[in-house]
Amino acid sequence: MYNVKIYGAGSIGNHLAHGCRSKGWPVLMCDLDQQALERTRDDIYPSRYGQWDPQIRLATPDNLPDEDFDLIIIGTPPDSHMALARSILETKPPRALLIEKPLCTPSLQGAQEIVELQAATGTFVAVGYNHTLTQNSQRAAQILADNAIGRPLTLSARFREHWGGIFGAHPWLSGPQDTYLGFFERGGGASGEHSHAMNIWQHFAHLAGQGRITEVSAALDIVDDGTVKYDRVCLLNVKTESGFVGNIAQDVVTEPAEKSVRIQGSQGYLEWLVNVDAGNDAVRYGDGTTEAREELIPKSRPDDFKGEIDHIAAVLDGEFSGESPISLQRGLDTMLVVAATHISHREKRTVHINYDNGYRLDAIETA
Ligand SMILES: NC(=O)c1ccc[n+]([C@@H]2O[C@H](COP(=O)([O-])OP(=O)(O)OC[C@H]3O[C@@H](n4cnc5c(N)ncnc54)[C@H](O)[C@@H]3O)[C@@H](O)[C@H]2O)c1
Repeated sequence: MYNVKIYGAGSIGNHLAHGCRSKGWPVLMCDLDQQALERTRDDIYPSRYGQWDPQIRLATPDNLPDEDFDLIIIGTPPDSHMALARSILETKPPRALLIEKPLCTPSLQGAQEIVELQAATGTFVAVGYNHTLTQNSQRAAQILADNAIGRPLTLSARFREHWGGIFGAHPWLSGPQDTYLGFFERGGGASGEHSHAMNIWQHFAHLAGQGRITEVSAALDIVDDGTVKYDRVCLLNVKTESGFVGNIAQDVVTEPAEKSVRIQGSQGYLEWLVNVDAGNDAVRYGDGTTEAREELIPKSRPDDFKGEIDHIAAVLDGEFSGESPISLQRGLDTMLVVAATHISHREKRTVHINYDNGYRLDAIETA
């Protein structure tokens, strides 16, 4: 049993509180806003999961008990992540710290300091790219490992989803102007909110042995009307250190949504699909000549987070060793691509990522 504290009693805070309670772990949720705590108890949690769970404790920051926590989760807006993470790691580091995506803002401010604090404390720091750990991702990884499609030639990833669904889950917000979502500089817009696509692209590129992204060429459609400033469409061409090329599409306008990866290999192809229908994710693959195979993978919304919580449990149990797909480094590699995207768009040119320069803007080279 692991003692859990969650900062942020919003949408993700509730999902992860439920995931931890499903394991029987005690959960304390902390929010700056007393109304958010009341909404969690009276509305969000009961409407999603059937009833309120009185085992969950609720507190504002001035009422937090002085306890040790095994796992701390930061489920607050992206522009608050780095300051919270720093203060947690500097004061009472837990054994595991899960920071929601996107890890920080495209300025990368505070990112390198977290790397140093992780090294000093030994805390397992993870970033909430939960899609790398869902069942369809595990099945797709197996198909790749079985060498079923030959040598990977190119990879496309798409997270294109109108954000009406997000506002549906936040009825207390009237639109993007009310939150970080309407401001890419605060970690919102398609580039930050749907950075799952960049991350899953990187995940499959790693599984395919193609290394990290070193080149980014981006085109954004930015809405800037004096009230909001966000990218509604974010399109990238990318190249890795091995010379492998592909593309990534993220937007907040497409409906119905499309969340997919397609890997073309020398002897076939593999598709990874989220929400192919109301109750299923899927993988599809084939050799291009015979009929494609499709495997449906039943899942509910809580299952989106189950693999992630199981993974953290395995880390805390000492049963996981190796490179975590949700490691701090993987989350930071995605942040470098987010930062490179904005610089590429602004400079109207391909930019390079130099990992030797650390997790700061110096890593993005325009010459
Ligand atoms: N992995 C996923 O699938 C997924 C899904 C939803 C959201 N997210 C991410 O989670 C983060 C939060 O999104 P959300 O939709 O839950 O937002 P939200 O607005 O619903 O909730 C955030 C809450 O954090 C509180 N807060 C802000 N600063 C705080 C602080 N310093 N201490 C305590 N509480 C604080 C706010 O009062 C608010 O109630 C974002 O980074 C988002 O991208 C990830």
